[in-house]
Amino acid sequence: MNLTRLVYYSQRNPSESLDSQELIETCQRNNKRMNLTGMLHYNGDHFLQVIEGGRVEVSALYHRISRDPRHSNIILLSCMDARERIFPTWSMGLHQGMDDRAQGIYLRYFSTDEINPETVNVDSLLDVLQDLSVELSPRFSVDRA
Ligand SMILES: Cc1cc2nc3c(=O)[nH]c(=O)nc-3n(C[C@H](O)[C@H](O)[C@H](O)COP(=O)(O)O)c2cc1C
Repeated sequence: MNLTRLVYYSQRNPSESLDSQELIETCQRNNKRMNLTGMLHYNGDHFLQVIEGGRVEVSALYHRISRDPRHSNIILLSCMDARERIFPTWSMGLHQGMDDRAQGIYLRYFSTDEINPETVNVDSLLDVLQDLSVELSPRFSVDRA
């Protein structure tokens, strides 16, 4: 069956509490069951998430996530067929924060580390996430799917 890859960007809702450790544990538990993989980047204000897997499962998860009050202003950046997974062994990797090294990776592909969801090139964004996952892997909460 085809693989689908979905990428979205959203804003943290500061009125709702967020326990990122608990969130990532939920992601990993559920995603493993649905054979979904991906990565979540949380810079303190915004989330950027890639979800990969079967079309039906990716779609169902996206609809559930989009109703989650912990974030708002969700913008779907891309949803398309994919030849292979970028994060095949992670049911959901988490990278938090924006330190110098993470900023350096953003500046490899963009002129600034601020994402403008209206204009951002999604392929470059996926390159950023992949580099973050490879180069900063010890900071990830990793779960081999
Ligand atoms: C930014 C963000 C990303 C999320 N990503 C996932 C995810 O990848 N997988 C998942 O199952 N839930 C994810 N959630 C949580 C869902 O919205 C929902 O709370 C959860 O799936 C409910 O699972 P439960 O019924 O097992 O508690 C995410 C929530 C937020 C705010």
